[in-house]
Amino acid sequence: MIEVKNVSKRFGRLKALDDLSFTVERGQVYGLIGPNGAGKTTVMRILVTLLRADSGSAFIDGIDVMKNPREVRGIVGYMPDFFGVYHSLTAREYLQFFADAYCIPRAKQQVIIDELFELVNLEDKADSYVDNLSRGMKQRLALARCLIHEPKVLVLDEPASGLDPRARVELKEIISKLKQLGKTVLISSHILPELSEMCDAVGVMEKGKMIASGSIEEICSRVFSKVIKIKALDEHVESVVEQLKSYKNVSYVKKSNGWIEFNFSGNNAAQADLLKSLSQSYGILQFVEHIGSLEDIFMAVTSEVKEERS
Ligand SMILES: Nc1ncnc2c1ncn2[C@@H]1O[C@H](COP(=O)(O)OP(=O)(O)OP(=O)(O)O)[C@@H](O)[C@H]1O
Ligand SMILES: [Mg+2]
Repeated sequence: MIEVKNVSKRFGRLKALDDLSFTVERGQVYGLIGPNGAGKTTVMRILVTLLRADSGSAFIDGIDVMKNPREVRGIVGYMPDFFGVYHSLTAREYLQFFADAYCIPRAKQQVIIDELFELVNLEDKADSYVDNLSRGMKQRLALARCLIHEPKVLVLDEPASGLDPRARVELKEIISKLKQLGKTVLISSHILPELSEMCDAVGVMEKGKMIASGSIEEICSRVFSKVIKIKALDEHVESVVEQLKSYKNVSYVKKSNGWIEFNFSGNNAAQADLLKSLSQSYGILQFVEHIGSLEDIFMAVTSEVKEERS
């Protein structure tokens, strides 16, 4: 649904995007992660036709964003990383303004706008002035705005920034509703653990390059050996720990919060053997694979790159 192919963009001497490629499948929620200045906003602006790439190409639903920008604008909703200020409008007038801009007939506007207020939980603020909304409410209004023309694809630049924990949970709920509606969502963030819960796939960017892309599980397995957690009967914990230390695929065995945790570098068959041999001798209550958080991935991947460079 979204395809970025070998895109480069310079600002003067600075290479903001350096031969960047990635793909987002239809209906996926794809997270772009990267430190400040990585190029997330730049690639999003190219996708929503606000900026031209120097080289490479990008497509949304098969439409070339540089050759047919008008067509692309009709199917993409973009939420920028700042909120445009409209002092003297109410939330409803604000949405009407954008509905007019998209040439949505007045007769249809009311229904669409009411639905959007409901989607983003702003029903009771429809007649408040935009100026008087809290930051989180403005953010939700901005999200409603970019949905007004019923786009298939949403490009959301750091929608969670500046939100309190509750508002973030609400945002996550809204995004999962959008996913249920069949939208494809590209979302950027610094708030890594949250992305891990809402994204089907993530791309880690640094200095204009994509340094890792895929499902969280894929990236994890590339970066780490697997982490396994075991819960054993209290009286067996010490023996299990000792036995684990003797296996060749096992490292970093430690106890934490009642669990035994270790890194495991073997394949699935080796993992099944391990479980079998432990449970023959000891009371094993639980045996689970733990997927590293995005924070872990981010730190591991970026430090990998630093090591390669140095
Ligand atoms: N209009 C511009 N003129 C000059 N330099 C720019 C412009 N826009 C972006 N840059 C530079 O391009 C690089 C990438 O910026 P970009 O805003 O895409 O990063 P980002 O990943 O979105 O960062 P952040 O997490 O801080 O939002 C930065 O070094 C930035 O200074
Ligand atoms: Mg940005």
